[in-house]
Amino acid sequence: MPSYHLKINGESHAVEACENTPLLWVLRDHLDMVGTKFGCGIAQCGACTVHLDGNAVRSCSLPVSAVGEKSITTIEGLSKDGSHPVQVAWKEIDVPQCGYCQAGQIMTASAFLAKNPDPSEEEIKNAMHGNICRCATYNRIQKAVALAAK
Ligand code: FES
Repeated sequence: MPSYHLKINGESHAVEACENTPLLWVLRDHLDMVGTKFGCGIAQCGACTVHLDGNAVRSCSLPVSAVGEKSITTIEGLSKDGSHPVQVAWKEIDVPQCGYCQAGQIMTASAFLAKNPDPSEEEIKNAMHGNICRCATYNRIQKAVALAAK
């Protein structure tokens, strides 16, 4: 089985996995980083979102062999103590209901704000559009992203 040296949250991790194994399962099953969630498995819901060199990607559909030298950030590595502005805003607005999709929401929001620190309401809506929340916390998500941008 091939082995891969992955840069995750600032640390190097060696894993052995079939080349088509989605990054999501390497994170969860090989490395016990279970903050990243499985929702649909077909890149449609956003629950599995992580950063790859700062870009939001869906780890359920990214083969581990495609990661290469790129740096991965998961929800565990966004901040050590929940102090990232998006996490702070999430707490302030009390966004989560069941919570299942929230890691993916936060990873999408943080990648978006890193590139667009002063977004309009419309831009926030568009950026978060592809992240599904079964509890429909969309209004609070919008507010929290706007708050984090301040
Ligand atoms: Fe990856 Fe739904 S689990 S997008």
